[in-house]
Amino acid sequence: MLKPKLIVDGKRLDGRAFDELRPIKIEADVLKRADGSCYIEMGKNKVLAAVYGPRELHPRHLQDPSKAIIRYRYNMAAFSVEERRRPGPDRRSIEISKVSKEVFEAVIMKELFPRSAIDIFVEVLQADAGSRAAGINAASVALIDAGIPVKGIVTSVAVAKVDGQLVLDPMKEEDYYGEADLPIAFLIRNGKIESITLLQMDGRMTKDEIKRVIELAKKGVMEIYRLQRDAIMRKFMVEEDEG
Ligand code: CDP
Repeated sequence: MLKPKLIVDGKRLDGRAFDELRPIKIEADVLKRADGSCYIEMGKNKVLAAVYGPRELHPRHLQDPSKAIIRYRYNMAAFSVEERRRPGPDRRSIEISKVSKEVFEAVIMKELFPRSAIDIFVEVLQADAGSRAAGINAASVALIDAGIPVKGIVTSVAVAKVDGQLVLDPMKEEDYYGEADLPIAFLIRNGKIESITLLQMDGRMTKDEIKRVIELAKKGVMEIYRLQRDAIMRKFMVEEDEG
């Protein structure tokens, strides 16, 4: 198919400004069985995260006597994309699971839980580009919902280059037809960006563009961070009984 024009009259195909996120909804504690959970919508992405643990790791030979083992499974439902996906892990989801696991390795206080496992499951129910970022954002809230000690909140977003222009939080057409796509995650501690915990890119960008991408992403993640924090607050605040 011919590449469509992705920017028309200075606006993106869905009417957004270059530095504008898609609408976001976040709700913590949506699953009864899990120790912690979160549901997120970022644009048309719909993603559930469930956290189990810390719990004793079996088989025992996989245990680490000095810290908890973190496991992360990113999975796309067969019905989450236009063409039915074959169920089960593929190269893409194995890679996303690996890099996402490494994000949380750096954030969870895993030394507090020797011989344990902390399992993070991310199920993409509907995907529209940026699903790994949505998964990380939901997982971060679910971990806090589970009461697992963390160094801060992890917040992720992608930036793309489309028609020569850098745009925040690309949707599927921008991801697919754009010149480059760069998902990034930050550790945010006490309301301040502390470090980058994930940085991937496909396509091509100049050094100067990369600097601008990071600034654009920082602006985006601070907005997402506030919504993550609100979702956690809503869960933990005891409402005044009006009756
Ligand atoms: O979702 P994310 O941007 O993190 O990962 P991607 O590999 O850049 O995929 C971009 C988008 O392509 C996904 O969010 C889906 O909408 C779509 N996709 C698909 O339609 N079928 C697949 N098997 C994989 C991805």
